[in-house]
Amino acid sequence: MAEARPRVWVSQPLFDDIVGRLDEWFEVDAAREVTAWSPDQVAAKLRDADGAVVTLNEHIGAGEITGATRLRAVANVGVGYDNLDVAALEARGIVATNTPDVLTETTADMAFALLMAAARRVTEGERWLREGRWRQWSFDTLLGGDVHGSTLGILGMGRIGQGIARRGAFGFGMRVLYHNRSRLPVGIESNCRAAWVDFDTLLRESDHLVLVLPYSPATHHVIDSAALAKMKPTATLTNIARGGLVDEAALADALANGRLASAALDVFEGEPAVAPKLLALRNVVLTPHVGSASLATRRAMATLAVDNLVAALGRGPDAGRPPTPITGATTAKR
Ligand code: GLV
Repeated sequence: MAEARPRVWVSQPLFDDIVGRLDEWFEVDAAREVTAWSPDQVAAKLRDADGAVVTLNEHIGAGEITGATRLRAVANVGVGYDNLDVAALEARGIVATNTPDVLTETTADMAFALLMAAARRVTEGERWLREGRWRQWSFDTLLGGDVHGSTLGILGMGRIGQGIARRGAFGFGMRVLYHNRSRLPVGIESNCRAAWVDFDTLLRESDHLVLVLPYSPATHHVIDSAALAKMKPTATLTNIARGGLVDEAALADALANGRLASAALDVFEGEPAVAPKLLALRNVVLTPHVGSASLATRRAMATLAVDNLVAALGRGPDAGRPPTPITGATTAKR
């Protein structure tokens, strides 16, 4: 009798042609529409699966995998993987993978789009114009801060941070400072024309601070009221990493009180919910977690996730060697 084909669950719609490649080896249960799965529903899906392709929407922890006795691989579509309890997966011998590299440049582009929108008040101006408030050109309408020649601060200098640094240094003539737990090799620093500084110096000296570090209990609310108080009142803050890095109530207060010029947020602590205080402010750019959302990059991410799952389940040309495994929850870099 033929051996039963492994079963895989794909939690959200990706690209049909890319997900369709799984049919060659597996019985595929692929979501047909965007779904907010409850933890119990995730657990039920995993109970029947040998492998899964999941997104940041699905938390996969000890609770979700308790009954998943067949589960051998979880392929996350995304570079950040704070939705996975990697230690719990590792303890069960379940391979976890993510999608680094393929989204680096696209996400760095978006960070710059947000930074510039915050600095030059792009969305604020658009809203004002659409409200019919533009009566006549005037000299002091919507004065913002310069980007070129200013100081760019990067908190979290992984691959995306380095992409942002290169854009700032070589595209806009910015002085680039960064803070990371560990200093990068000098060769990488000079490629990005970036200098390591301590966290307080980064806060004090940045005209435009961008957050690109992984979220974990250790980085929860790394930008809180004390950190915001150290920033220049003319500075901008851009977050393209994870919402939990920022104390949103403290940020809203700082923006409302003129303690900070403006902010741009692509990620939120309780997304898709956005704090009403932030929604009410004009000096904050808000986008719905679309940092890597170019068509080409989203296709590359889906392709890599599928390649990872196929290989982790011992099929295809890379059988047993998934291209981008996650190794160690606390040490992996974005
Ligand atoms: C998206 O946020 C990602 O981590 O890829």
